[in-house]
Amino acid sequence: MSDWQSIPCVERHKQFLEKLIAALIDCTFESVSRENPVLRWREPGRLQDIINFNLQEEPQSQDSLLEIASKVFKYSVKTGHPYFMNQLFSGLDPYGLAGQWLTDALNSSVYTYEVAPVITLIERTVIRKLLSMFYKEENGTMIGDGLFCPGGSFGNGIAINLARFSFRKKTQSSKIISLNLVLFTSEDAHYSTLKWANVCDVEVVLVKTDEYGRMDIGDLRAKILREKSKGNYPFSVTATAGTTVLGAFDPLIEIADICQEHDMWLHVDAAWGGGLIFSKKHSALLRGIQRADSILFNPHKLLAVPQQCSLLLSKHESIFKEAHSKQAPYLFQKDKFYSTDLDVGDKYLQCGRRPDVLKFWFMWQAKGTSGFEKHVNHLMTLSALFKEEIEKRHAFKLVTDSCFINVCFWFIPPSLRVSNSLYNYNNLLNKVAPKLKEKMTKRGSLMISYQPLREKPNFFRFVIQNSGVDKQDIYYVFDELENLGESM
Ligand SMILES: Cc1ncc(COP(=O)(O)O)c(C=O)c1O
Repeated sequence: MSDWQSIPCVERHKQFLEKLIAALIDCTFESVSRENPVLRWREPGRLQDIINFNLQEEPQSQDSLLEIASKVFKYSVKTGHPYFMNQLFSGLDPYGLAGQWLTDALNSSVYTYEVAPVITLIERTVIRKLLSMFYKEENGTMIGDGLFCPGGSFGNGIAINLARFSFRKKTQSSKIISLNLVLFTSEDAHYSTLKWANVCDVEVVLVKTDEYGRMDIGDLRAKILREKSKGNYPFSVTATAGTTVLGAFDPLIEIADICQEHDMWLHVDAAWGGGLIFSKKHSALLRGIQRADSILFNPHKLLAVPQQCSLLLSKHESIFKEAHSKQAPYLFQKDKFYSTDLDVGDKYLQCGRRPDVLKFWFMWQAKGTSGFEKHVNHLMTLSALFKEEIEKRHAFKLVTDSCFINVCFWFIPPSLRVSNSLYNYNNLLNKVAPKLKEKMTKRGSLMISYQPLREKPNFFRFVIQNSGVDKQDIYYVFDELENLGESM
């Protein structure tokens, strides 16, 4: 057996795979150790000297492949490290990782029961369970259906298409062109809605937010009426449960009332906040979500399921089939020997599709629903602690109050602590976060992201999804920022 043949053979590959897996297991533990850096920053030119990225005519030996794998690991960012707080995903859950490896060993694709029998039933179980959690079973009967999506942005896009499909079905008018269809979302909503509105060729009107980043209902009402008076068709609202930067929750009940009044589709982007459904203590933040026509939820964010794991749920059971189905006869034959209801692929927009469900289901088996609840509660407790610490320390200032994981704050360096009436104060403060970010990245000690927001100068956003983070790590973040910013 030769290496150009795409099949493993015991004599040639067993030892190689064993060595690689042993190294990966070592890497896994190394990558989450507080003794090790979050990253080893190298300029691109230097990185190209360390790793030869070029592709060659002749094959590499197995030893050099192991060496390449070790360098790839060494110079990649350790997103499972407790000091990686840069994105809305982090952590390296051992069971999630095992589920991910299982997924890769299967190399499956979920369109038909005949190709993916086990995964089809796993998907059905997880989707049904989540529907019962988000939409609360009415009289014990199951409502709705769902899809796994290649990420939350894509899910927000599918939701726009469903809203448009539903509008067209209701109006049955071919005279209304897409450009007259108007979608409303807040100015703090995730940018994917703007991108996908472009793809779907519909207009977006941005609704103002309040000081906490929640959609302003008065502005939403006024803007819907304004569009109607122009002869346009308001057809959908995308509300957010957990905005990307401030972590705000739009008032879903009021928005649902407005959508009902104007016969509009309500999509809730709960990519980030959706995981709260697992917590009895904190799920009240999602109040009203069951009135949404569609809900986007990313288990790869708050629940720390490995990337990517994202679902779009809808209370309208047949909408995915109606909007997407094309019944390709080479794949979805109706004369198969088993129930073709299990050939779920036709309700998707993709054809081949990675089984993102497997790692989630495997983790769920390992932790139980109660484990996810403890995980979410722990993250919420640590965020509250982080906020309390900011209020105690004079070098830090909150940007706004928050009820979720996101804690947005400024680090005020010694030179700006004297007075905030300094000429140019905001310009000077604007430069602090990028400079600190450069220092922490080059030192490899911490990764935490910053951004400006409207008139607000650059500030840091603390977020965690890794429930391996503890109180001491919170103090570490403050100490490290103070240490890095001491001379500024
Ligand atoms: C509120 C919200 N919606 C959607 C997304 C997009 O999710 P994804 O990164 O999976 O595309 C994000 C990403 O951070 C988000 O914060």
